[in-house]
Formats: sequence, C-alpha cells, structure tokens
Amino acid sequence: MSRFYSDLVSSISPYVPGEQPKDRRFIKLNTNENPYPASSRAVAAIHSVTGLEARLYPDPQASLLRQTLADYHRLKPEEIFVGNGSDEVLAMLFPAFFNPRDLIAFPDITYSFYPVYAALYGIPSLTPPLAADFSIDLDDYPQDLRGLLLANPNAPTGIAKGRDEIEALLRKRRDTLVVVDEAYIDFGGESAIPLIRSHDNLLVVQTMSKSRSLAGLRVGIAFGNPALIKGLEAIRDSFNSYTVDVVAQRAAIAAYEDIEHFETTRQAIIATRERTSHRLAELGFNVTPSRANFIFCTLPGVPGIEVQQYLRDNGVLVRRFGGERINDWLRITIGRDDEMDEVVRLLAAFVAAGRA
Ligand SMILES: Cc1ncc(COP(=O)(O)O)c(C=O)c1O
Repeated sequence: MSRFYSDLVSSISPYVPGEQPKDRRFIKLNTNENPYPASSRAVAAIHSVTGLEARLYPDPQASLLRQTLADYHRLKPEEIFVGNGSDEVLAMLFPAFFNPRDLIAFPDITYSFYPVYAALYGIPSLTPPLAADFSIDLDDYPQDLRGLLLANPNAPTGIAKGRDEIEALLRKRRDTLVVVDEAYIDFGGESAIPLIRSHDNLLVVQTMSKSRSLAGLRVGIAFGNPALIKGLEAIRDSFNSYTVDVVAQRAAIAAYEDIEHFETTRQAIIATRERTSHRLAELGFNVTPSRANFIFCTLPGVPGIEVQQYLRDNGVLVRRFGGERINDWLRITIGRDDEMDEVVRLLAAFVAAGRA
C-alpha cells in the first residue's frame, strides 16, 4: 500500500493467475497449457530472428501474421486484430465498445478475468447464474444489453454451445455486441468465425496459447467486421502500438502454417480428455461434458480442497475456484497420456482409501 495509489488502484481486485511453481517439479495441470511442445517450425522461426531485426520495432500492423490468419480462415486482414495474448484483446475491447453507462453481462461462472476488466473500466455487469447442469441459459439475459461475453466452450466448465445457438443469439440481439471467447474452440467446439460477415454485432476472440502451444509468446486474435477491428486498433494505438513483438509475430505465422502439428496435438488432447473423463466417471466423479483441453469434475461428498491438496502432495497441480457452487470442483488440464494415467491412478487410490 502506498499513499501514491490512485483511487483506481486502491479499489480494484486484480485477477490471480494460476501458480507457476519454480521450486519443485509438478505434473502441471492448473493453467490449461498445452502438454506438447510448440511446433518445431515455430521454434525455428523464434531462432531465425537476427540481431539486426531485433534492433527494430516490430510491424505495428502485424501485416504478415494477419495475412496468414486471413488466408487460413478465408477472411481479409481488415477483419483481424492481434494482441499480446487474448487477455490483452479482451482488455482492449472493453474500452473500445462499452461505456460506464452501459450494461453488459456474462455468466456468474466463467473466465474470471471478465469481472476484473468490467471493474477496471467501471462497466456495470450482470452475471446471471448458470443452469443447474452448468449450461448457459441465454433466456435469463435481459434484452437491452450493450455487450454479452460468452466463453465458448465456457471456462471452467468446458461446456460448449453450437454455432446455430450463437447465430440465433446474434439475430435476436442485433443491438448487443456479442463477444465469443473461443480460447478452447479447437478442442472440439464449433467456431463462430464464419458468422462475422453476416453479423456486425459479433466479435470472436481466439488465442495461440492453448491449441497452438504458444502461451509463452502471448498472441491473441480478434475476428470481426472491419469497423469493429478499427475500434480495437484505436484503443491499442492509444496505449502501445507494438503489442506483438517480432519473435511472436514470426513464430505465430510458422505455427499457423504447421497444420500437421496442430492437428496431431489437438487430436491427441481430445482423445486423452475423453479417456480421462470416462475413467474419472467410473471412479465416481461427476464430470461435465467438456469440449476444452481441461475437465471439470467433483467427487460427491468430498471437499474439493481435500482432493486438490492430496494431488498436490503427490506432485500434481490442478485448479480450484472460489464460489459456493464450484468450491468442490476441480479443473484439471489435460496433460500427456502418461500424466493423466498418473492422475487417474492417484485418484483411484484416493477413492479406494475413502471406501476402506
Ligand atoms: C476463456 C479464456 N479466455 C482467454 C484466456 C487468455 O488466454 P491468453 O491471454 O493466453 O491468450 C484464457 C486463459 O486461460 C481463457 O481461459
């Protein structure tokens, strides 16, 4: 605490990132990182940056990267914005599109950065509760919203909505900017990107941190009509024009071009998720139907903190969130097969000890 703190700093409650341990080796399943290394082509691109290139500022428009993304998704570069991780893209879209007099909404249980940004920018937000099965019931949301944020698949539940449901929502709420955060879309969801041309009230946000295994480089993307993209650029250029550095731009291009690496690793993660969900259900866990690179589960009758501590004592880090309804639930990132085998083995021993 300093007497020089602004009212803003004194009043905010910042996001708390998952632990990044330094002192001990854990099976690290707490921050939804990809268990497989990034594409070797992306790594070669990282090494290819010369001292002379590093001397210069990066291309503020990230033109080559945006062109690569445009070719991949059959869009135009003007429909694409890139930022320093999707967290930054989200941080910029709040002031780009919402005013302190506007009302926005997102579910009570979702990515915990949304309320942090809403509070930072003083945007009033409604947080309708998820349904009993943790799905998002859009009928619970009032009509006169300026913005609606949906993580799809949702975090930390992993439950996804289909493109048809997103399309129906866009039609029904033409005066609401719908932000679909697709951080986990490549693990089995249906992207809303094909809808951006027909709906000027849609902004789709994606990241290279999960399915492209580049969390360390920080590259996030927004897809929307060119006017929305210009709004994001106006905020970026009022803040820092060089948000995506030269190494990140080049590696991101290479990662997008390595379709084989992307396909093999994401299919491996999907297969491991399905197998692990099934085995945890057999052990007596409730497991939500996840389309993400994590599973969300609880062992009925056992406090979540106990299961989390037991896993930690045995070298496995998983994430647990506060809040009455999900206190006893664990979010377990999907690791490699051998890592998930160890988790299942530990949890089977935990359940057996409880029954004994
Ligand atoms: C739903 C959701 N959106 C966005 C992010 C941010 O990802 P990044 O800033 O690494 O792109 C995360 C990270 O965990 C997430 O879970």
